[in-house]
Amino acid sequence: MKTLVVNNQKGGVGKTMLAVHAAWFLAEGGARVLFIDLDPQANASSTLAAFRVGESAQLFFGPTPKIAADAGLHLLAGGPGLDNVDAHLSQAVAAFRDNLAGLAGGFDYAVLDTPPTWSGRNYAALMVATSLLAPIDLETYALQGVKQLLAQKATVERVARQGRPIDFMGLLPSRFQSQSPRQRESLATLLRQEGLRIMFPGYGVVTQRQGYAEALDLRAPVWTIRKTAAQEAGREIRKVLATIKARLDTVPA
Ligand SMILES: Nc1ncnc2c1ncn2[C@@H]1O[C@H](COP(=O)(O)OP(=O)(O)OP(=O)(O)O)[C@@H](O)[C@H]1O
Ligand SMILES: [Mg+2]
Repeated sequence: MKTLVVNNQKGGVGKTMLAVHAAWFLAEGGARVLFIDLDPQANASSTLAAFRVGESAQLFFGPTPKIAADAGLHLLAGGPGLDNVDAHLSQAVAAFRDNLAGLAGGFDYAVLDTPPTWSGRNYAALMVATSLLAPIDLETYALQGVKQLLAQKATVERVARQGRPIDFMGLLPSRFQSQSPRQRESLATLLRQEGLRIMFPGYGVVTQRQGYAEALDLRAPVWTIRKTAAQEAGREIRKVLATIKARLDTVPA
């Protein structure tokens, strides 16, 4: 099972939008996909409500839950109970790792959506990640959350993964406003400071488009909405998602 973690310590950058579209895209190809919503706000869980299995994500931090794996999408829903996880952090994180490992034969992919604030749940997510995707917005301070994230990634690799690296897919400009000189300048600065290697491959970006927000409201992938603008958004994000899938399929589990 390949585990994609979508994380950035900054709020409102499009993590959930990308995570649910990644899950839809992977499941569309016939894969068995487990979506774990680690955010107590549970935005993804409301969008993916139709795919909910009995267990909630919170239970995943305790004694083994049972989940039947078959083709398609399965949601472990988030909720306010996730805030209790940090009270018993070391057992909770170990239980999470073991529970996920127990399901590894039953699912092809796990997609983990995470909250913007650092917590034991984010630690647990990085502990089990095959790959990490970090959407960013190109407004002021965009890089600050990312620097924290990369430092935390390094810590988890060293402390909890015995040096086993997490494949960093890069920073994906999300909600990108290509017409905005400020955002274009911000992207140029980022490239100057950090170089191309930190960015998502192939100059992939997800632009700011009404269709994405609409898709979340309608609880349907943007490419299934029959409006020209949504179809354009669909083409844009499917290119990005195909790159993500190809990358997940090539890195070791
Ligand atoms: N590319 C986009 N174009 C237009 N709207 C978008 C885009 N991506 C996300 N949105 C909208 O922006 C808002 C924030 O997106 P989202 O919930 O995915 O961010 P997030 O990083 O998960 O936020 P949080 O940190 O609160 O979990 C949502 O209302 C969503 O519909
Ligand atoms: Mg979110």
